[in-house]
Amino acid sequence: MKEIKLHDYTIVLDEHLTNLKMWLSVQSYTRFYILLDENTHQHCWPIFKKECPLDHCELIVIESGEIHKNLDTCALIWQQLLQFRADRNALFINLGGGVIGDMGGFAASCYKRGIDFINIPTTVLSQVDASIGGKLGIDFKNGKNLIGLFKNPKRVHIATCFHGTLDHRQINNGLAEIYKHALIADELQWIKLKANSNFLEEDTLEVLYNSLLIKQQIVEEDPFEKGIRKALNFGHTIGHAIETFSLENDSNPLLHGEAIVIGMIAEAYLSVEKCKFHPQHLKDMVEVFSKRYPAYIIPEAAVDKIWEFMQLDKKNQSNKILAVLLKEIGQPVLDVEITLEELKSAMTYYNNCITEWKS
Ligand SMILES: NC(=O)c1ccc[n+]([C@@H]2O[C@H](COP(=O)([O-])OP(=O)(O)OC[C@H]3O[C@@H](n4cnc5c(N)ncnc54)[C@H](O)[C@@H]3O)[C@@H](O)[C@H]2O)c1
Ligand SMILES: [Zn+2]
Repeated sequence: MKEIKLHDYTIVLDEHLTNLKMWLSVQSYTRFYILLDENTHQHCWPIFKKECPLDHCELIVIESGEIHKNLDTCALIWQQLLQFRADRNALFINLGGGVIGDMGGFAASCYKRGIDFINIPTTVLSQVDASIGGKLGIDFKNGKNLIGLFKNPKRVHIATCFHGTLDHRQINNGLAEIYKHALIADELQWIKLKANSNFLEEDTLEVLYNSLLIKQQIVEEDPFEKGIRKALNFGHTIGHAIETFSLENDSNPLLHGEAIVIGMIAEAYLSVEKCKFHPQHLKDMVEVFSKRYPAYIIPEAAVDKIWEFMQLDKKNQSNKILAVLLKEIGQPVLDVEITLEELKSAMTYYNNCITEWKS
């Protein structure tokens, strides 16, 4: 078991839920409400109830997927809490991926001006990314995470026993953020990750722990995203736009992490061009990513659309497109302006890599 202590809550990492059971047994909550989607109901709830049986608990099961991360689903959650007569001595438990964590935390924080909640993230992405930072919220009018707030859970329990039912795409989805954390802040972790492609399976707790420590350090240093926290956006300026493009155009769209990997390659290419990032690092990244991620070609005609999405990104300032580039592994350069021409050459570089990747 490992623990990360943040200033107002603790993240526990373990294979099972033993520590959670102990923690709950010394709390004074009178009732428990567990938010699940149909997949975590099927795959994670049986494990939870066996390892951590609770008296006085009710389930709230919603439909899975980002399209349900909205106000209508929140209304359903609040309606059920009211029907159960939930009061402020209750504990709300989010058992699921990032959708459950973001929306459940938001719903709990608004219900009767806020009831306590804990997160038990069950995807690798939600374990390494959503566990720190206190971002809660829902999508609204086509805008992702437009309505929300910052609030920390009472506790986060990361249990690797939930990984067994995640398919390889879901595992790799979360790994993209693990790679990102290493690339922006921890050369040693990057060296380990690139040397052993089975690291997650062999050393899961250690890998998740190191990755979370990086995020913790960055978020604690810059809680309001004024400076170094922007480094977490590496790969995201271009990657987010590619994710949106794929969502709008593909029947089986890229997952967030898959798009971020493309963004990281593109932004690492621009790092070589603009920040003297060593080309060998870029080659290493391509080599590592080619083993895990789909060879997704970006059609030339798509680049203008991707550029448009980059301009719409809510993180933009003063109409400039700013990205996080790298001058070394572990040494990000914040707020570097990039142009449409540069995006085009990065996409050409990426498409050329993909041709080799496929062969
Ligand atoms: N708050 C933050 O800081 C933060 C950070 C990153 C992402 N997010 C949010 O997280 C969401 C994406 O997270 P996600 O990828 O976990 O999405 P998700 O919650 O939709 O989970 C992905 C899929 O996996 C299923 N699933 C979850 N756990 C499972 C398990 N153990 N076995 C089998 N299936 C399982 C879910 O039902 C879903 O179909 C987005 O809404 C994003 O905005 C938030
Ligand atoms: Zn991300």
